[in-house]
Amino acid sequence: MSDQVEHRVPALPRGLLGKAVQAVIRGFRELATRFWASLWQIVAVAVIMASLVLIAGLSKAFALIGFASFVASVLLLPRHDAEIVQEDLARTPPASGRTAAMQLMAEALPDPVILLNPAGQVLFCNAPARGLFASLRQGSHISSVIRTPEFLDAVSAAPDRGRAVTVTYAERVPVGRRMAATVAPLSRGGERAGNILVLLRDLTEIERINQMRADFIANASHELRTPLASLRGFIETLQSSAKQDPAARERFLAIMAEQASRMTRLIDALLSLSRVEMNAHVPPSDLVDLNDVINHAKDTLEPLAREMGFRLEVGRFPRPAVVRGDRDELVQVLQNLVQNALKYGDRGGIVRIEAKHIPSIGRQAGRYAIAVIDKGPGIAPEHLPRLTERFYRVDVASSREKGGTGLGLAIVKHILNRHRGELAIASTPGKGSTFTVMLSEVKNALPERGTAVG
Ligand SMILES: Nc1ncnc2c1ncn2[C@@H]1O[C@H](COP(=O)(O)OP(=O)(O)OP(=O)(O)O)[C@@H](O)[C@H]1O
Ligand SMILES: [Mg+2]
Repeated sequence: MSDQVEHRVPALPRGLLGKAVQAVIRGFRELATRFWASLWQIVAVAVIMASLVLIAGLSKAFALIGFASFVASVLLLPRHDAEIVQEDLARTPPASGRTAAMQLMAEALPDPVILLNPAGQVLFCNAPARGLFASLRQGSHISSVIRTPEFLDAVSAAPDRGRAVTVTYAERVPVGRRMAATVAPLSRGGERAGNILVLLRDLTEIERINQMRADFIANASHELRTPLASLRGFIETLQSSAKQDPAARERFLAIMAEQASRMTRLIDALLSLSRVEMNAHVPPSDLVDLNDVINHAKDTLEPLAREMGFRLEVGRFPRPAVVRGDRDELVQVLQNLVQNALKYGDRGGIVRIEAKHIPSIGRQAGRYAIAVIDKGPGIAPEHLPRLTERFYRVDVASSREKGGTGLGLAIVKHILNRHRGELAIASTPGKGSTFTVMLSEVKNALPERGTAVG
């Protein structure tokens, strides 16, 4: 794959003398190249010196020394890397068929690809690489954009190593990310001095998902382990010290039943979450009247609210409020929000469901908003952005004590994502919280199920 033709030199005479002759010829060639490249500057300095001698009476010796120093500096002083590369690139014949095909292929790849010469200078980079590094230029050294020592070592060792290596590294600016760079020399056989291909992959998202999965499993097993440990403890007690104590047995069995139902709740919530996630990419197609959803949630939760000493005030849309949705999932959204309001609201208070139509503005379609409002202790602002994370709870002990699994709002968020809807949370500590669900309206449509508005 390597573009060897561009770097091949004419066959060398054998032996040390041959090498010396070759070096001298190369030196003269380099001087001649530099002379021709700077010819205009040399002529301009010669004219200035002559004018100074003729007009300003400058001594001829001084003028000659000045001119000679200038010519020597142009021919002999070391030049900036980028200059040399630009010159090399200019001398390089237009991309050969193979190089052109490789560039075309690299442009078609979705990942960043950079082609370097053996000295580590950029010969070519594709659009994703240009997007990743705004300052990446043809001719600049790769170290101007990736400074990680392991990566730079891999690049300088590539021509000798002769095989690809992958280096992973972290970047802090412009954004924190983890990258994997595969450095592959493009020389054939034992040949040196081939170009180097650098393939980059952004690992940030993959690592974040892996971390989330690991956290999720750790959290889920922790949540299950706690009631399980408690159950085992009670079983042992019942088998030993409480064997002959009927009163203790009754008390322990009641606690065990509660722990078992906690495990059932958790497994139900986990299954529910995984079901919603599995369907996340399939938007629902049924037509559902939100008044029907509100009624269903009210019917199922009113007895519980009464039992907990709450009054449930339920508002409805004045007309059928039709959206594209899965009725059972939307009922679950509302049930989770009302259950939270009952669980965390002030006992003996009111929980209100408000229904409101938001007319369309410009290109934004009209929407239906259902708000669940409680007058509980509210939630401090720093918790709000994290409430929909799995297992996130403001007060873990209090949530567990109330039978909470910490998955209710995560399920709400996933269901609403599937429905292309939104959840807005507003809360003032000491005054209460409002959780608002927003869904796009479907105009002039009839729901597929009856709208038994009660
Ligand atoms: N209306 C509310 N008022 C105050 N805090 C709330 C309210 N709703 C939710 N929270 C806080 O958000 C946390 C997450 O709620 P979420 O519904 O996800 O879990 P949960 O209620 O603890 O458990 P689950 O819903 O699975 O039974 C709760 O633990 C609670 O701390
Ligand atoms: Mg909840």
